[in-house]
Amino acid sequence: MKQRLIFLGPPGAGKGTQAQKLCFNYNLSHFSTGDLLRAEVATGSSLGQEVAAVMNSGELVSDKLVLSIVETRLESNSDGWLLDGFPRNVPQAEALEALLQKICQPIEAVLLFELNDEILIERLLSRGRADDNEEVIRNRLKVYREQTAPLIDYYNAHGLLQSVPGDGEVADISLRIENCLG
Ligand code: AP5
Ligand code: MG
Repeated sequence: MKQRLIFLGPPGAGKGTQAQKLCFNYNLSHFSTGDLLRAEVATGSSLGQEVAAVMNSGELVSDKLVLSIVETRLESNSDGWLLDGFPRNVPQAEALEALLQKICQPIEAVLLFELNDEILIERLLSRGRADDNEEVIRNRLKVYREQTAPLIDYYNAHGLLQSVPGDGEVADISLRIENCLG
C-alpha cells in the first residue's frame, strides 16, 4: 500500500476523521498541521496566542511557521506518513517537494476529498470548534478556493492526484480510500 500520503480538501470534508483511522490501521504517522497548531495554542504561549488569532479568523498561519513544524517531524520520521491539511498553498507544496527530495521520501499519492459546501457547513456547525461559526467557515472556504484549490492542478500535473467522494458513511469512505491506495 502507498504510505507517503497527502489528504487535500475543503474544511469539514473528513480529512481528519479518515486520516486517524487509516494511520491507526496501517501504522502511519499522522501529521495534521491544524492539530499541531491547536496544540501550540493550548500551551498558552505568546506564539500560541498569535496563532489562535489567525486560526479564529479562518486565514492561513504563516508558511514559515507551518513549514518548520512539518520539517522537523518529517526529517525524524522513517516510516510512512500522512499529511493532513498541509500543504495549503503552492509555496508550501514547493517547499515540501524540496524537503522530500532532500530526504528521499517522495509523495506516493494525494487524495482529494470532494463534498459540496452545504454538507461541509452543516458538518462544521454541528461540531463547534473555535473556528466553526458561520462567518469563519465561509472565510475558510474562500481561503480554500483561492489558496489551496490551485494544488489540485499542481498535483494532477505531477500525476499524483486521486479524487475521493466525501459523502456517505465514514466506513464507506474508508473503503474508497483503501481502494485508491491498494
Ligand atoms: P485544519 O485544522 O486543517 O481545519 P480545516 O482544513 O478547516 O478542516 P477541518 O479539520 O475542519 O476538516 P476535516 O476535513 O479534517 O474534517 P473532519 O474529519 O474534522 O485548519 C484549521 C486552521 O489552522 C486553518 O484555518 C489555518 O488557520 C490553520 N492551518 C492549518 N494548516 C495550515 C497550513 N498548512 N498552513 C497555514 N495555516 C494552516 O470532519 C469535520 C466534521 O464532520 C467532524 O465533526 C466529523 O466528525 C464530521 N464527519 C466526518 N466525516 C463524516 C461523515 N462521513 N459523515 C458525517 N459526518 C462526518
Ligand atoms: Mg482536520
